[in-house]
Amino acid sequence: MKTYPNLTKPLKIGSVTVKNRMMMAPMDTGFGNKPWGGFTPEGVEYFVRRAEGGFGLLFSGGTAPDNRVDQTESILDHRDEFIRVGREMNRRIEDCGGKMFIQLSAGVGRNGGLKSPSQLPSLGNPAIMTKALTVEEIREKVRMMGEGAALCREAGFAGVDIHALHWGHLLDSFVLSFMNRRTDAYGGSLENRLRIVREIREAIAGRCGWDYPVTIRFAVRSFMKDFNKASFDGREEAGRTLEEAAEIAKLLESYGYDALSTDAGTLDAFYYAMPPSYVEKGYTLPYLRELRKAVKLPILAGARMADPDLSEGAIAEGVIDAAVIGRAAIADPDYAKKIVESRPEDIRTCIGCNQGCIWGYFTSGRVGCAVNPTVGHEKDGEIGKADRSKKVLVVGGGIAGMEAARIAVLRGHDVTLCEKSDRLGGNLIPAGSHDFKSEVAELNAYFIHQSKSLPIDVRLGTEVTPDMVREMKPDAVILAVGSIPVMPRSIEGIDHSKTVSGVDACLGKKPVGEKVVIVGGGLVGCEIAFGYCREGKDVTIVEALGGILSLNNVPGMNKAMLLDAFEHYGTRILTGTKLKGVRDEGAVVILPDGKEETIPADTVVLSVGYRPVKSMRDDLLMLNCGAEVIEIGDGRQVGNVLTCIRDAYEAVKDL
Ligand SMILES: Cc1cc2nc3c(=O)[nH]c(=O)nc-3n(C[C@H](O)[C@H](O)[C@H](O)COP(=O)(O)O)c2cc1C
Ligand code: SF4
Repeated sequence: MKTYPNLTKPLKIGSVTVKNRMMMAPMDTGFGNKPWGGFTPEGVEYFVRRAEGGFGLLFSGGTAPDNRVDQTESILDHRDEFIRVGREMNRRIEDCGGKMFIQLSAGVGRNGGLKSPSQLPSLGNPAIMTKALTVEEIREKVRMMGEGAALCREAGFAGVDIHALHWGHLLDSFVLSFMNRRTDAYGGSLENRLRIVREIREAIAGRCGWDYPVTIRFAVRSFMKDFNKASFDGREEAGRTLEEAAEIAKLLESYGYDALSTDAGTLDAFYYAMPPSYVEKGYTLPYLRELRKAVKLPILAGARMADPDLSEGAIAEGVIDAAVIGRAAIADPDYAKKIVESRPEDIRTCIGCNQGCIWGYFTSGRVGCAVNPTVGHEKDGEIGKADRSKKVLVVGGGIAGMEAARIAVLRGHDVTLCEKSDRLGGNLIPAGSHDFKSEVAELNAYFIHQSKSLPIDVRLGTEVTPDMVREMKPDAVILAVGSIPVMPRSIEGIDHSKTVSGVDACLGKKPVGEKVVIVGGGLVGCEIAFGYCREGKDVTIVEALGGILSLNNVPGMNKAMLLDAFEHYGTRILTGTKLKGVRDEGAVVILPDGKEETIPADTVVLSVGYRPVKSMRDDLLMLNCGAEVIEIGDGRQVGNVLTCIRDAYEAVKDL
């Protein structure tokens, strides 16, 4: 049995003792706050649920008290409601043994096209220059941060976290020399650029006393080449260097901050701030080792620190004091409880896809999750017992089938899960085969473990037929038969020894040579290409559309990282180009001008989509066997992890 003695021991932050070292990272949810910053009923349930799930400390997403400079309404305009809701939420969190710090934001500055330390190009629209804050406006912001903290204290929050020397938000842009061109007391030397940060700490102490804990969000590196450009390999740095980070950390300690809540990156280098799984787990640890030498302050380490073995080791080594866990706390609200109970294998893994959480937030204004369909529905969305236990047959042991079986058994049904191959996992197996997608393999391991530890009758090597269904007499048949790669017969050489589907390539069914042509520049094709680039292979991507990764459901930061990777590795990308055939010499393609080119290749990997496997739905309906027949997952409509899990949940939650 694995134990986590370091993650589970208490930590003192200023005057407050937190029961363990697993802290939920500050994350805005979209549904959790009112436009002026107060908590909605859904938001309260979301936080309380994570406190019930064992997190010692919860950080809220950024809330700006400023109701004068950037905005006209804030928590300062709704004091009574903020205090009433805050006190009730904090009481419930404390009943679970947890504590909550509200993240008080000084503003997002140029990231929202708002006033900044200097005139700066707005993020995403460099043609629009922001206005510089006047000294009076800076002072007003500092005053409101103090007033906001006093209000948070009254509302029962155990402390505040200052937002933020990260993401290039307002305070970060004051401190980054290339964004702060002021010549007054708030610009120039490092101390001057940090003046607003010091004044905020003093203003809070002035209103709440020095013993009211104040932490600060702090990126240890910016990883920026320039505005709107990340430094892929981290060698170039226009923003914060590690040396400067160490100097800043010392000054923050001297100003009276009680802990550093660390991460990395800016919105210009967003894949370092919202790292997809392509970014190594614990990627900030080498920097934190150096920071540790500079300060005694507790270091609360965030960003890809959700691997409990990794964070346990880093605490044991003395590098960090706690793990600040973001997306993994969305994916599994009980993450911390499962660590305390020494059952890490029961943690529903966050796969670092960014699909439902940050991309959901950007595209629909609401955080969701690929692996947890109940986010934002904590009160009424969780799985409860069915009125009557039914006999449920699940056909297909891919992700949709495994999730359907898991939920069905939790609802009290008698569940049989049949898989025709000898392994559970379906398309999760090839998808989790790259080292940079290890969390997908971990998610599969989670589902396999659930199917073994719950009373599910799993039958591998079992192809279900209508006759079997007639014999078994289930009340419901859930068809989760999945999808297979499209391999167009119209392509000359589709059976050539050099041709392989992306799935078979990932499964290692055919050796892949040094010169590889990937046909299909969607997310799957590009991830396969990224894997080969990392192995040092010579890669060409061929895409029929006008651009690669062009579909809306590809999270922007994942796309940005893959594009930068291809630039870094010198990957050739041919868009508007179609594969004509595969010959002994390589891939024959038709370029946008209609000309033919033969790209020398040892292997041509086809990743041009998936098609649903035909299920026996029609046969079962004809059979009229009395069972409810439900199709889910890729077999119903090809999608991804998010759509498969949501489908399973929707199908079974009311069964
Ligand atoms: C939907 C979403 C909203 C976020 N909002 C905030 C925020 O308001 N303040 C903040 O400091 N960080 C915010 N973050 C960043 C997280 O705190 C964290 O640094 C990031 O998710 C990386 O950590 P992880 O790998 O543990 O998820 C947000 C992240 C997500 C996914
Ligand atoms: S959507 Fe993906 S990255 Fe975001 S929390 Fe869920 S599993 Fe993790």
